[in-house]
Amino acid sequence: MNATYNEKVYWESRYASRLHSGEGSRGVELDFKLRFLQQALVETDSVIDLGHGDGELSFAIAQMVHHYKGYDISETAVLACRQRAASLVAANVEFECCDISDVQNTLADVVLCVDVLFHMPSKAKFDDVVANICRSFSRIAILTVWKRSIVDARKGQFAAHNNYFELDLPEDCYIAVEADIEGNPHKQMLIIKRKI
Ligand SMILES: C[S@@+](CC[C@H](N)C(=O)[O-])C[C@H]1O[C@@H](n2cnc3c(N)ncnc32)[C@H](O)[C@@H]1O
Repeated sequence: MNATYNEKVYWESRYASRLHSGEGSRGVELDFKLRFLQQALVETDSVIDLGHGDGELSFAIAQMVHHYKGYDISETAVLACRQRAASLVAANVEFECCDISDVQNTLADVVLCVDVLFHMPSKAKFDDVVANICRSFSRIAILTVWKRSIVDARKGQFAAHNNYFELDLPEDCYIAVEADIEGNPHKQMLIIKRKI
C-alpha cells in the first residue's frame, strides 16, 4: 500500500482540479449502473449514497426515489452537488461532507457504495465502511467491488488509491446478487441482503 495516500487529499485535489469522479462514472459503466439501479430501486423510498462523487449518479437516482442523501469526503464535490440541486430545484436531495467510516445513526431502505470501497486506504477502514453499510440499510445495499478472481490473482500487490480487499460481511448479511459490470471486466456489482 502507498503509505502517503490520504483519500481526502486525493479526492479534494481531484475535484478542485475540475476532474470528474473517474471512468466508472461515465460512458458504458455509467449506463450499466443506471440500468441496474433503475431495476433495483423500484418502489424505494429512501437511499443513502456513500461516496456520491460528482453527482452523475446522484441526480439520476433522485428521480427514481423519494429521498436521496449523499455523503462524500470532498467538500468541492459536496458543494458542487448542492449548487446543482439548487439550480434544479431538487427538493428531495441532500449532500453532506464527511468520511463514510464516520457515518452513524442513519437508516435508509437502500444504501449505495458504488466504486468507493476499493479506494479505502486500509483493511481496517474498508471493514469499518462495510460495517456502516450493513448497519444502515433496511432492504438492500448495493456495492461495487473488485471481482474475486482479480483479488486472488493480485493479492499482496497494492496500487495507490486502488486497494482490493475481500468482503467480510456480518453474519446476518449475505450476497444475494453478483452482476458483471458492462464496460469493466474487473468489477462486480453486488446486492447485499439481510437474512431473515
Ligand atoms: C470513484 S468515485 C465514485 C463516485 C460515485 N459513487 C459514482 O459511482 O459515480 C469515489 C468517491 O468516493 C469518495 N470517497 C473516497 N473515500 C471516501 C471516504 N473515506 N469518505 C467519503 N467519501 C469518500 C470520493 O471523494 C469520490 O467522490
